[in-house]
Amino acid sequence: MKHILVTGATGQLGKEVVNALLKQTPAGAISVLVRDAAKAADLKAKGVDIRVGSYDDEASLVNAFKGIDSLYFVSGSDIANRSRQHENVVKAAKEAQVKHVVYTSFQRRNETASSPVAAVSAGHLVAEEALKKSGLAYTILKHGLYMDMLPVFLGEKILESGQIYQPAGDGKTAYTLRKDLAEAGAAILTTEGHENKTYEAYAGTTYSYPEIAKIMGSISGREISYVSPTADEYINTLTGAGMPMEYARMFAGFGEAIRQGEFADTSNFIETILGRKPVTAEEYLKEIYKAS
Ligand SMILES: NC(=O)c1ccc[n+]([C@@H]2O[C@H](COP(=O)([O-])OP(=O)(O)OC[C@H]3O[C@@H](n4cnc5c(N)ncnc54)[C@H](OP(=O)(O)O)[C@@H]3O)[C@@H](O)[C@H]2O)c1
Repeated sequence: MKHILVTGATGQLGKEVVNALLKQTPAGAISVLVRDAAKAADLKAKGVDIRVGSYDDEASLVNAFKGIDSLYFVSGSDIANRSRQHENVVKAAKEAQVKHVVYTSFQRRNETASSPVAAVSAGHLVAEEALKKSGLAYTILKHGLYMDMLPVFLGEKILESGQIYQPAGDGKTAYTLRKDLAEAGAAILTTEGHENKTYEAYAGTTYSYPEIAKIMGSISGREISYVSPTADEYINTLTGAGMPMEYARMFAGFGEAIRQGEFADTSNFIETILGRKPVTAEEYLKEIYKAS
């Protein structure tokens, strides 16, 4: 039986991938890469093999990847350092003779430095290029913007304030639920024919903030308005409320990218891979805000 290793398994996506795999694969055929074994005690209790290593330490990765056929490689969360980390993961996979690497990249139209999210995309582009050059069999999943990010973009006080405040104009986004992406990833790992393919891994429906405001209004029974400030106004508001400049700029970059339609393409990927429709924003937001 094929032996699979999932990185980032103490994080939200990786954990969902392991849970989806456990529904169809014996725990003995699943390993995870973690930085802190204590955070993976629940997985260990389920019989999953725990391997400790860090994207910053190539030797630890080579050791962890020994005997692995398929690697589910979760992109790193350290935006400033992940290009180098991603190169380490690809080099280690090659050295350990992993047979197939499935990488979690991201949806985009603009791959140039003019992209408002260029800092975020840089590490993904490096990983994709390193994989393609490595000679390893790869599958690149161009993940859509997580639908799970919507409550973050809407803000904790959305129902009190009754206002969505995002510098995104009427730009549309194919928000995709993290759990749908995890289930699709598990399906890719356990079926054949995905080598050297790049998949547009996002939903088939797009939403603008005016549409999200309407959905939120119907869920809450309250009037929810939408204000789209300029990027500068938005950054001033966030930093004025205490957010560090670095984060305010990153959030503004996502707003501007949405305004420019960076995530507006749609795909039937989830439906094709899972044989069911992806979760919609209406369904997701209702679930999140039903008790409010
Ligand atoms: N498409 C989107 O909208 C979107 C949104 C957010 C993030 N992302 C990307 O998707 C990835 C997965 O998302 P998520 O929600 O699962 O993020 P998450 O909950 O923050 O999980 C990130 C995982 O990566 C691990 N990790 C980080 N740096 C590492 C390193 N140097 N060496 C080994 N492991 C490392 C973390 O380990 P620890 O538990 O030890 O910290 C954690 O398990 C993120 O890392 C990010 O690249 C995409």
